[in-house]
Amino acid sequence: MDPVKEIQLKYYGHSAFQLTKENTSLVFDPFITDNPLTAIKPEAIKCNYILVSHGHSDHLGDTVKIANQTGATVIATYELAGLVAKQGCKTYSLQFGGKVSFDFGTLRLTPALHGSGVPGGLACGFIVNFYGKTIYFAGDTGLFGDMELLGKSATIDYAILPIGGRYTMGPDEALEAVGMLKPQYVIPMHYNTWPEVEQSPTEFKSAVEKCYPKVKVMIIDPNQALILN
Ligand code: NI
Ligand code: MN
Repeated sequence: MDPVKEIQLKYYGHSAFQLTKENTSLVFDPFITDNPLTAIKPEAIKCNYILVSHGHSDHLGDTVKIANQTGATVIATYELAGLVAKQGCKTYSLQFGGKVSFDFGTLRLTPALHGSGVPGGLACGFIVNFYGKTIYFAGDTGLFGDMELLGKSATIDYAILPIGGRYTMGPDEALEAVGMLKPQYVIPMHYNTWPEVEQSPTEFKSAVEKCYPKVKVMIIDPNQALILN
């Protein structure tokens, strides 16, 4: 990986992100090979941790390949971690509970209203404190009222929310979620990968910023990066 001084968030399209500072890099839901929005190959991704929200192929994606080629630790629920451990990956499993600590900061699993893609498992999201910035990665989820609790239990700097609809929240539900999470910034994901999840991120941005003038929506184009201030 290229060492970055600031905290950088790169978007590979769909729900695939890479969060990097200096020599520490976390990848979220690395759906790379079959991702029509991604410009790179999984071989090019270097990271220390891979956070996987659930077992559907558009999220688990290239996890096993990247973990085995880089030695990265896969962070996931017990059931999903067990599945990838059988394929040779180093894993760190947890369930909904308290914060756990890593060299980069803390991490907490959050509930997600969605299928897990693994027998007996649950889908999840993550609240990560990465070198002082708090990022909520919602994973695939419908709207749920306990987002209010998430907003109370952490001061969220960046909320990464799905807006595609059909399989997850659409723009109207994500707008409601913003009201409960009270983040400083919102980053939309899980849209325009395929016709089923076609949405306008600019319309979403206008709606959020009109309704919540203190919140800013940052649209990251696929294969572009944002510096987190
Ligand atoms: Ni899914
Ligand atoms: Mn999905």
